[in-house]
Amino acid sequence: MEKILVVDDEKDITEVLSEYLEKEGYKVYSANDPDEADKILSSQNIALLITDIKMPKKSGLELVEKYKKGNEDMEVIIISALKDINMAIEAMRYGAFSYLLKPFNLSDVLINVKNAIERRRLVLENKKYQEELERIVEERTKELKNALKALEESYFHTLKVLVETLDVRDIETEGHSIRVVEYAVLIAKEMGIEDPKFLNDLKIGALLHDIGKVGVPDRILRKKGPLTVDEMKAMRAHTVFGHKIISSVEFLKGAAEIVLYHHERWDGKGYPFGRKGESIPLGARIFAVADAFDAMIFDRRYRKALSIREAIEELKRGKGTQFDPNVVEAFLRIPLDKIIKIKSQTPRRLEDIKEIIKLEF
Ligand SMILES: [Fe+2]
Ligand SMILES: [Fe+2]
Repeated sequence: MEKILVVDDEKDITEVLSEYLEKEGYKVYSANDPDEADKILSSQNIALLITDIKMPKKSGLELVEKYKKGNEDMEVIIISALKDINMAIEAMRYGAFSYLLKPFNLSDVLINVKNAIERRRLVLENKKYQEELERIVEERTKELKNALKALEESYFHTLKVLVETLDVRDIETEGHSIRVVEYAVLIAKEMGIEDPKFLNDLKIGALLHDIGKVGVPDRILRKKGPLTVDEMKAMRAHTVFGHKIISSVEFLKGAAEIVLYHHERWDGKGYPFGRKGESIPLGARIFAVADAFDAMIFDRRYRKALSIREAIEELKRGKGTQFDPNVVEAFLRIPLDKIIKIKSQTPRRLEDIKEIIKLEF
């Protein structure tokens, strides 16, 4: 039952209206002065205030102003004498629904009351709907954030397991893999590449480039002397094998391509396919420079480390034969201090570079 408050200093009016509106099914309160009205307004949830404008102590306008502020949903109908019509119109500016001119007939009152109550109902319904909508959006956002977090964690965990596999078999150290990621990203950025998907694939591909070596038997992997033709074949298969291992995981598919082509050479003399020039995916061409550089400046089983300067000279010599000339050029544009910094940092673990290998969207 909607509650209506009728305020007028003329008792006749409040009585007539109360009686009539009660009959129409509303719960009606009445007040003959503003103080009384004040009490009711602050204690009851009034849906509609019907108030006179001119009253001895306080004007109806003040009531409207005061209670519309704290309770916007409350509708207001003004009762006004013709001479106070300006005040009635003023009340509309405070959000009053309509005004009734004295003397009014009751059927007009009822139409106004019904319309006012209906407007309130729509406003409230709309508000509720909005709130519900906001709640749903908030909830979904939260769910999505949690899902993303879980995804990121499982993604990171997958990478970690794979990198650790390399470490455990002493195939490639985590330090090398991580430095290659860092060089590769620097080169790509130097080439103006910003595509997040490309960068993601490049990072992960670089990180896992030799994952296929887990499929190469130890006696070949650790053989001191030169490899026989068959052994060489088995060794080179680490590209295809690595691709096979990780391409079944959806978010590693792009990286798998880099793994597959990471030993191709610009001049077509690489493996597994002997692809040439730009038919080798760009990520793999970038990777090749980063990997070769890092391999040169650290001791390897088969040779001593070169200095950074010597390694750079080697890269220059390989321009157009082993390496994509543009990629080498981009590498040469990287400020030396950045390269030295990557080289000289204590070997980092995957946890340290979560930021670097984080998936970009
Ligand atoms: Fe390799
Ligand atoms: Fe490598």
